[in-house]
Amino acid sequence: MKTIKLQAENPQDIARAGEILRKGGLVGIPTETVYGLAADALNGEAVKKIFQAKGRPMDNPLIVHISHIEQLQDLVAEIPESARELARRWWPGPLTMIFPKSARIPDEVSAGLPTVAVRFPAHPAARAVIDAAGTPLAAPSGNRSGRPSPTTAAHMLVDMDGRIDAIVDGGPCQVGVESTVITLATDPPRLLRPGGITLEQLREALGRVDMDEAVLNPLKEGEKAASPGMKYKHYAPKAHVIIVDGPYEAYCRFVNRHKGPGVAAMCYNGDEKALEVPAVCYGGREDYAEQARELFDALRELDEMGAQTVFARCPEPRGVGLAVYNRLIRAAGFEVLHIGE
Ligand code: TXA
Ligand code: MG
Repeated sequence: MKTIKLQAENPQDIARAGEILRKGGLVGIPTETVYGLAADALNGEAVKKIFQAKGRPMDNPLIVHISHIEQLQDLVAEIPESARELARRWWPGPLTMIFPKSARIPDEVSAGLPTVAVRFPAHPAARAVIDAAGTPLAAPSGNRSGRPSPTTAAHMLVDMDGRIDAIVDGGPCQVGVESTVITLATDPPRLLRPGGITLEQLREALGRVDMDEAVLNPLKEGEKAASPGMKYKHYAPKAHVIIVDGPYEAYCRFVNRHKGPGVAAMCYNGDEKALEVPAVCYGGREDYAEQARELFDALRELDEMGAQTVFARCPEPRGVGLAVYNRLIRAAGFEVLHIGE
């Protein structure tokens, strides 16, 4: 299959993307978080193709994307007051809410669960494509299953060229990590995946919000995941990533002591000056938003360098940094080394 390259600023290209989606095809779309792989959410056969193109296990449900708040009521069985409050504050934006689903949601989308995840993205091109398709779009991140999520059209093409009908290039993503996922189908609501809207902000809006165990910890053998995506190996570059948790000087000493062929560092801006191995920076030490924006690019760049062992500086699990930490510990297969002074 030849993947057609479309431009977000060209109205004819947006119309073309809409037409492909209406006919049951697959289109890569930009969003403010990461690029997504979209299909008509109400067409089970079209949605199946997403799983094939990604190599995604069929038991991992998809997020349904809308471009107008009025589309929500058809997709869900009920809209709790807490959801209305969150929608008022953060929709359109990088927040996904889980609701009891309506009968309109095909089983392929919800992977057999009684719930559905819905997001109203802020990116104008994402909304334009949904409008052009005239239907809500199911869209997981546009990477092959297990790989880092794409934050540019070029990154998505590395994984998907020839496997999808078209891609809309809308430039680099602003947030850089996937949306925050919160379920309102439990009481109290529970954070399943941290993202651009922080746990602190959600608690400010709703009072009590629990954090799912799987945000910070690997699932135990045989344990059932509240969010099925959490149980799979994720965001992994080809290199073996090890997170090194410790103060700056200790981190640099540790990395330099382990220098050798194929060894690289993934560090904060400026850290590289003290390092004797090739380094990729992923943002300023206290700039969590910048870290989020650069994280997946950094992981892909390490692959391009041919890195085999990567010592990554441990992100602070606070604010948007919690999302960075959550992705990086998965990229590292939960391997964290704690080092002292
Ligand atoms: O920012 C984003 O959310 C991006 C862009 C494209 O919108 N999409 C995205 O989709 O990250 P995906 O499929 O890569 O991640 C969706 C996550 C998975 O961990 C999945 O298991 C979870 O949301 N999820 C989806 N529906 C769910 C449901 N009904 N209950 C629990 N978890 C659900
Ligand atoms: Mg994903």
